[in-house]
Amino acid sequence: MSSVNREGKLAEEKVFKDPVHKYIYVQDELIWNLINTKEFQRLRRIRQLGTSYLTFHGAEHSRFSHSLGVYEITRKIISQFERGGYSDWPQEEKLVALCAALLHDLGHGPFSHSIEDVFDTQHEEWTCRILLGQTTEINKVLRDYDSSYPERVSAVICKTYHKPIVVSLVSSQMDSDRMDYLLRDAYFTGVNYGTFDLERILRVLRPHQGQIVVKESGMHAVEDYLMSRYQMYWQVYFHPVTRSSEIILRQIFRRAKELYGGGYPFATMLEPIKKLLAGTIEIEDYLALDEALVQTAFAQWSSEPDSVLADLCRRFLNRKLYKYVTMDKPDDKLWQQVRDCLQEIGLHPDYHLEIDFPYDMPYHVYRPGSTTAAGKEEKPPILLLSRDDRLSEISSRSDIVRSITGIHQGKYHLYYPEEPLQESAHRLPANIRELFAFM
Ligand code: NI
Repeated sequence: MSSVNREGKLAEEKVFKDPVHKYIYVQDELIWNLINTKEFQRLRRIRQLGTSYLTFHGAEHSRFSHSLGVYEITRKIISQFERGGYSDWPQEEKLVALCAALLHDLGHGPFSHSIEDVFDTQHEEWTCRILLGQTTEINKVLRDYDSSYPERVSAVICKTYHKPIVVSLVSSQMDSDRMDYLLRDAYFTGVNYGTFDLERILRVLRPHQGQIVVKESGMHAVEDYLMSRYQMYWQVYFHPVTRSSEIILRQIFRRAKELYGGGYPFATMLEPIKKLLAGTIEIEDYLALDEALVQTAFAQWSSEPDSVLADLCRRFLNRKLYKYVTMDKPDDKLWQQVRDCLQEIGLHPDYHLEIDFPYDMPYHVYRPGSTTAAGKEEKPPILLLSRDDRLSEISSRSDIVRSITGIHQGKYHLYYPEEPLQESAHRLPANIRELFAFM
């Protein structure tokens, strides 16, 4: 007896217990099989929030739990569309949308953003390589279901799918990805902001002429969601201690890459890390890269003779992060003076000083062809649908949304290792001592 009926439904629905959504329901055999591939299971070994656990010790949740959450929100939205019988929702796309929701973060590596910066790779690109690569279990499961699925699912994730409404479920200014990570990250970091009424938002979404819009009466729920996004960015994602740990990570990879390129004789080197440093990494080794492996490499490197690399690794593992001072305005002259001083006291300005300037756009109004401050293509605006079927862009109606539209900038943060600087404080000029508050 097969446990699957003719429509590809499991004979018995599977459930995952989840702290954010209570339960996550799986009815399709295809979804169940995708979850059980080794590439998807790997996401259990990658934290959703990278180094944030060094700031918020509860933030140990994985990309696995987030991916299931995005799937569950997408499933709820579609089921609401189906219950409402809306003709603007293409029903035949349901399973493609669910697969894309589940698999959208498949290509994330350990501490993705730092690795992407140093090695110039992109997790979206890896996601598509894993989906389309003939040797992966994910590809086989999708292909066995329908030979067009690997292509279709990856097109939704890469935002090139021919039906934009499917893309906007998983990727827009109010998509299931953002809704899940805001709630999940708030829950696991333990912060009070970041929550909003998900059930209410799901009830007011409507498919309308090839896009997803919000019933006018849901405007306040959307305001709440955008405010929570704003709060989470400044209180959690841009937390200066988290930024400090990301800087250390980036410096470690940068130093290791520099040493490797210069023929430095590493005492030991794990194979996938070696290929990463050499720039020759392929799918199989990429999939072997998880946070445990990277941290093992850091433990090995912390006893390397290269003192810069060893010190950075020990700092990361023992959470001896860089301290910071803030400045309202940029000051190139002063920054150059700091670099010169570091050099003079025997430090390495490229590794012992970093200037960080966080900024974000909680919500932005789309102008055709324009890009965000981060250089990414802008996502379409959130539209409200009135009772008489007219659409209006939300910031034209809401003072709250208008107040958080556009770029929000933080302060300049100068990160530095405190102890060696403090030890040589007597050799620093008065203005630099004052900057770092050394007496
Ligand atoms: Ni995501």
